[in-house]
Amino acid sequence: MHYTLCDLFTDLTQNAIEAGSSRITVEFTETETHLTVYIRDNGKGIAPEDMKKVKDPFYTDGKKHPNRKVGLGIPFLIQTASSTGGEWDITSKPGAGTTVFCRIDMTHIDTPPVGSITGFFRQILTFPESYEMEIVRKRTAKNGALDYRILRSELIDALGSLDDAESMVLLGSYLEGLEEG
Ligand SMILES: Nc1ncnc2c1ncn2[C@@H]1O[C@H](COP(=O)(O)OP(=O)(O)OP(=O)(O)O)[C@@H](O)[C@H]1O
Ligand SMILES: [Mg+2]
Repeated sequence: MHYTLCDLFTDLTQNAIEAGSSRITVEFTETETHLTVYIRDNGKGIAPEDMKKVKDPFYTDGKKHPNRKVGLGIPFLIQTASSTGGEWDITSKPGAGTTVFCRIDMTHIDTPPVGSITGFFRQILTFPESYEMEIVRKRTAKNGALDYRILRSELIDALGSLDDAESMVLLGSYLEGLEEG
């Protein structure tokens, strides 16, 4: 299996969950040529002295994977954006939260496939934790305009829960419907 851009964004959003965030906003915007993603959280943040290490491709905090020294999320973000003429940034304030940004050139030959957007949204809405998640989705007219917003708390109100098989199926078809415009 290929590691897709949506796999990468799922990993980066998982970092936000793991940072204890109660509110996460994911902005996912496509133009004809570029994909721009912002993942903003209000979690524990990254201390300035750790930021240097986090931006180093061989860093992981060493707690999650005791036998592996290399994290996957951020190194892959850096590697992907840098090798395809894209942009990336991570800004963070300890105690306040973190924002991860990237702008990927979808026309570059080395850019990985985008992967499943609905699969990405479904995964980040269904982590077994308590958090608010806002997804802001936009696509420009040439590819079929899309402009919608999802709030996790509203989905839970509508579906009753997000952790049983039936609501997962309903969530899946709801997301597919939104993506079809
Ligand atoms: N949103 C965030 N808020 C706070 N800390 C973060 C955030 N994102 C990343 N970090 C810190 O940066 C480290 C590196 O992240 P990265 O995703 O590259 O690796 P990892 O999470 O340690 O391992 P993996 O993603 O492979 O499971 C994390 O261990 C965490 O300490
Ligand atoms: Mg991670």
